[in-house]
Amino acid sequence: MQLLKTVLIVTAGAALLTGCTAGGDYPGLEYAPNMYHSVAYEPLTQITDESAGTWVNSLDNGRGEYFNSNKYNPNMMNMRAPAPYTVKRNKYGWLPYRIGKDSLDYASTIKSPLDSTAAIIADGKALYAVYCNHCHGPKGEGDGKVAMGVKVDGVDKGMVAGVANLQGNAYLNMTEGHIFHVITWGRNLMQPHGSQISPEDRWKIAKYVKTLQKK
Ligand code: HEC
Repeated sequence: MQLLKTVLIVTAGAALLTGCTAGGDYPGLEYAPNMYHSVAYEPLTQITDESAGTWVNSLDNGRGEYFNSNKYNPNMMNMRAPAPYTVKRNKYGWLPYRIGKDSLDYASTIKSPLDSTAAIIADGKALYAVYCNHCHGPKGEGDGKVAMGVKVDGVDKGMVAGVANLQGNAYLNMTEGHIFHVITWGRNLMQPHGSQISPEDRWKIAKYVKTLQKK
């Protein structure tokens, strides 16, 4: 028994000392090696040593368990930079909206990519309630609380002047492209909302505003 204890203590001590030699690229003695070596590809590192981890297991291709690299990737990383001039599209394949603020006339000719389904108009209604209602009012008549002025805790909050009545004659022929552009860039007294609302949601709101105008 005493002998067994001594052997255990000596072995544990030896393991501890070997483990302590860790430094630089050498992690020392690894307890639970799968926590150090990702089986999946890591985006920012590669294990290029084909024999790494053979003592745990050899893969079907004869390489060690920890080998995970694609030697054709540069910079010792699995992640690759996109090709030059790559343009990100959203999940519908839409390109970023690149029509400048001053090109409202051209923007007005752009057709909505969305269909006029009940579901899309319902989404537009919900989004309008969040982003537009407080100024333009529930029916777009320019009578939202912010436009009319409101009392908060008994204190009068000044109204925002000049909110457009979207039911007014001047606006009835506005296209969805026009509304999308105004939401994106703002116009005169109205501030832009392009950074808060995704392109998809902006098209939905535009569609809903058109339904308001038909009443
Ligand atoms: C903070 C108040 C405010 C909010 C919020 C707001 N608007 Fe406006 N909006 C205005 C004002 C003020 C004008 C008048 C701009 C001008 O002509 O000076 C305007 C004008 C417009 C016009 C007419 C633009 C034109 O060509 O003359 C449209 C369309 C419009 N808003 C749509 C929206 C939609 C859709 C939303 C929600 C995403 C929204 N607005 C949110 C204040 C607001």
